[in-house]
Parts: sequence; structure tokens; C-alpha cells
Amino acid sequence: MDGNTLSPLLQVNGLTVRIDTPRGPVFPVHSFSLSLEKGDLLGIVGESGSGKTMAGLSLLGLLPESANILGGSIRFDGQEMVGAAEGTWNKIRGSRISLVFQEPQSALNPILRIGTMFEEIYDSHRPGEDRELRARTIQNLLLSVGLDRPDFIVRSYPHQLSGGMRQRVLIAMALSLSPEILIADEPTTALDPTMSTQILDLLLERNRRDKMALILISHDLGIIRRSARKILVLYAGRVVEYASGNRFFSAGPAHPYSTALLLSRPGVTRKNKNDGPLEAIPGQVPPLWELPEGCAFAPRCPRADARCHVEFPPWVSTGPEEGALCFYPSTQENVA
Ligand SMILES: Nc1ncnc2c1ncn2[C@@H]1O[C@H](COP(=O)(O)OP(=O)(O)OP(=O)(O)O)[C@@H](O)[C@H]1O
Ligand SMILES: [Mg+2]
Repeated sequence: MDGNTLSPLLQVNGLTVRIDTPRGPVFPVHSFSLSLEKGDLLGIVGESGSGKTMAGLSLLGLLPESANILGGSIRFDGQEMVGAAEGTWNKIRGSRISLVFQEPQSALNPILRIGTMFEEIYDSHRPGEDRELRARTIQNLLLSVGLDRPDFIVRSYPHQLSGGMRQRVLIAMALSLSPEILIADEPTTALDPTMSTQILDLLLERNRRDKMALILISHDLGIIRRSARKILVLYAGRVVEYASGNRFFSAGPAHPYSTALLLSRPGVTRKNKNDGPLEAIPGQVPPLWELPEGCAFAPRCPRADARCHVEFPPWVSTGPEEGALCFYPSTQENVA
């Protein structure tokens, strides 16, 4: 199952997704790259609309019909998945790479009982399995996500459950075939703080104990700080920073957008002496069909000069396997 031991479990290079809209083509994911080993924990952060969900969906070949992959590569366990047949995707999707959808409501079939949906997952990947054993597995999964009346849950339809319960059911489903990679898109947003901690603990335990690689998509840097070993920051569809969690949170990020994201959290002090006292990030992520010339973040950036408004910034290496899409990334020297 390990495939080629020289290549990472998941290697994405220069992935670009195009959507044709009435306003013209847009690129919600542009030149997206990442590398994930068994047991890795990558956090993807960025404001609403930055492309987190689109990036996650593209890694599972689940883009909306209006979207298509314009270029780039997704290699899973050595196998190229861009352009792969649906049958090839079906073999790995849900079983080897799994996704917790951001919208629990739309991800569950409203006319099926929860138990039936679990049966469908197991029937398609493990047909002929002992039914009693399967029922016990489902019960234990539901218990592990904090649903303490599993008999009631399997008999229920989605509308009979609260939003938080549906979210936990989705997480249990995503974990049901013990995937090697789990992409969790805002997995705790619909949950109260106690349940959010419990779910995050569960995902982290799977990551540590079973070496399940985890891609945690979240707008909440608190969650990412607690867990991620690598951080990928998205802005207007582009990766603007890739960093180790350690550097990002202790030495400080390299990209001014990442710095602004950190500063927009309560109780966080600025790290870069060149940055102004930003309480929140002024302005908004520009719509994809109206991206400014040069750096897309320049109109909001405290470090931007004339060049940033006209020239596209370079990818600057800031350390081993680290970098930022910026003319003026922070370095260890200018971080005070
Ligand atoms: N079907 C679609 N057609 C056109 N544009 C779309 C479509 N779906 C998403 N987009 C655009 O793609 C961009 C990225 O959206 P995406 O949902 O990935 O953002 P996100 O970072 O997950 O945001 P959030 O934090 O709100 O979940 C947005 O600008 C969005 O408007
Ligand atoms: Mg999203």
C-alpha cells in the first residue's frame, strides 16, 4: 500500500482550476502545490473566498461541473490523478483519501437514514463483510465522535439531527474506512467549543496513532496553531506562504498577509517591526474576476510599494521547504 517509498503520499504541483463565469474565466485555485507524507499535519488558512474549499475538493476530484483543471499534477501514492478515470478516483476517494465537507447539510442525503448511508460506504468498498461486525464498527465510530446514542443515530434521517450532530456523523463517515489522508474542511465550525475540542482531539489522535495524514482547513488560526506542523496560507486562490508551524507561530510568518491574519486574532502582538498596528485586515479579498495588477494583496498591504501594484511578486524561499509569494517577505533579520 505504500507505493513508491521515494515519493510523498500526496504531491501536488502547480494545480490550476478554472471556472467560466458570466464575468469571464476565474481561477479559484492557481499554481497550488503541496507535499504530504504519511502522518503529516497540514493546516490551510485564509479568509473566506480565498479558495480553501476549492483546493480541498480538487484534491478529491470533486470539483463542481462548471470547474475544470487547467493544469498541474496531483500524484497520490505515485499515481497521477489529474485526468484519471472516474473509476480510478472511486477506488481511492472515501477509502484512501477522505473529505469532511464544510456543509454538513448538503453532504448528507436527506432521504436516507444515517445507517443506510454507512451501509452504502461499506458496500461499495468492503462488500460481503460480516453484518454484525459492521454494525459494531459503525456504533464505535459514532461513539468516538461523541454521539452517545448510536442506535438512535443510525435510524435517523439527517433532518432529525442537529447541525452539530450532522457534522459529527460526517466526520464518522469520513473516518469509516480508515483513510490514509483526511481533508477536514472547517470540521468544527458548526460545533460548540467543548465539542470542537473533542473532535479536534479525535482527529489529532488518528493523525498521531494511525499516522493518518491530515489536511485541516480552517479560518481559525487557534485550531491551526494547536495542531499543524505545516501551514499553507491562501489568498485569492494563490498560495502566498508555506511554512512550518513552528516558524510561523514562534518566529513569525514571512508574508504580510499571514502576519495580518495572525494580528487579526485577539491577544496577538505584532512580530514584524515594519508592520503597522493592524487590529484587523482592512478591506476584503478582491473578487476573482477583479484581481488587481501585481500582487493581489497589495491594496491591503502595509508593506506594499509602487512595484507591488504593477509587478507580480516572486516566490521567495524563506527556509527549507518554506517560502512566500512576496517582494518583501519577513526574514529572521527583520523580525523583531
Ligand atoms: N461554482 C462556482 N462558480 C464560480 N465561482 C465559484 C464557485 N464556487 C466557488 N467559487 C469562487 O471560488 C472562490 C473560492 O471559494 P471557496 O469556497 O474555495 O473559498 P473558501 O476559502 O473555502 O471560503 P470559506 O472560508 O467561506 O469557506 C470564491 O471566490 C468563490 O466565489
Ligand atoms: Mg470553504
